[in-house]
Amino acid sequence: MTTTTTLADVAAISLGAVRTLEGYGLDYCCGGKQPFREACLAKGLTPDAVMEEIQYALESGAKGKDRQTAPLGQLARHIIATHHEYLKLELPTLGNRLNKVHSVHGARDPETLDRMLEVFGALREEMELHMHKEEVMLFPFIEQYGRAEARGESMPPVPFGSIATPIGVMEREHASAGDALGQIRALTNNYELPPYACTTVRTLYAGLEALEADLHVHIHLENNILFPRAIALESR
Ligand SMILES: [Fe+2]
Ligand SMILES: [Fe+2]
Repeated sequence: MTTTTTLADVAAISLGAVRTLEGYGLDYCCGGKQPFREACLAKGLTPDAVMEEIQYALESGAKGKDRQTAPLGQLARHIIATHHEYLKLELPTLGNRLNKVHSVHGARDPETLDRMLEVFGALREEMELHMHKEEVMLFPFIEQYGRAEARGESMPPVPFGSIATPIGVMEREHASAGDALGQIRALTNNYELPPYACTTVRTLYAGLEALEADLHVHIHLENNILFPRAIALESR
């Protein structure tokens, strides 16, 4: 670890590292470019102690599959099968739940619930389009890169000049999704249940919090592992 090691670098070590960072509230995802040391110190944490915990998780076998060396196509397919499929199911479910809460309790807490509806609606629309773009445009090229690498061939040309161009767009959309989730977290007071919370409100809040956690891992796998590996292959 050097002074320029970022949170994203640390998160890329293993899924155990991701869990440790998450446990300390260190934003490895949208704030992944922050230096690890400074981010720890800003939270009153000792960087070496956090790093020791990550090493321990790694040595005790708690590490996830090695995403740094997994074939690129396999990683892209894992992201689709796990995180995209999850969002395709959860976004409509949570949308319906939120509509129900809004229609039942909207009059009691109009400011929060109107805004929730707006922010969630925009997040859902953006993410559905975003995943479509990844699945039909970007990931197929990343898979081709992975195959070319495995065969020792040079990288096939891409229609958008450089793979970094669509990746830049995806990263901006990730930041926007992270922002929407932050707004939802603030609107719900960190998912603190309101006094009128019925079962639907409880399941809505639990679902939104789970969505946030899943999206963080999803964005981490793309921003910190899949995309940098594809960019590195192109410039090889
Ligand atoms: Fe994705
Ligand atoms: Fe993405």
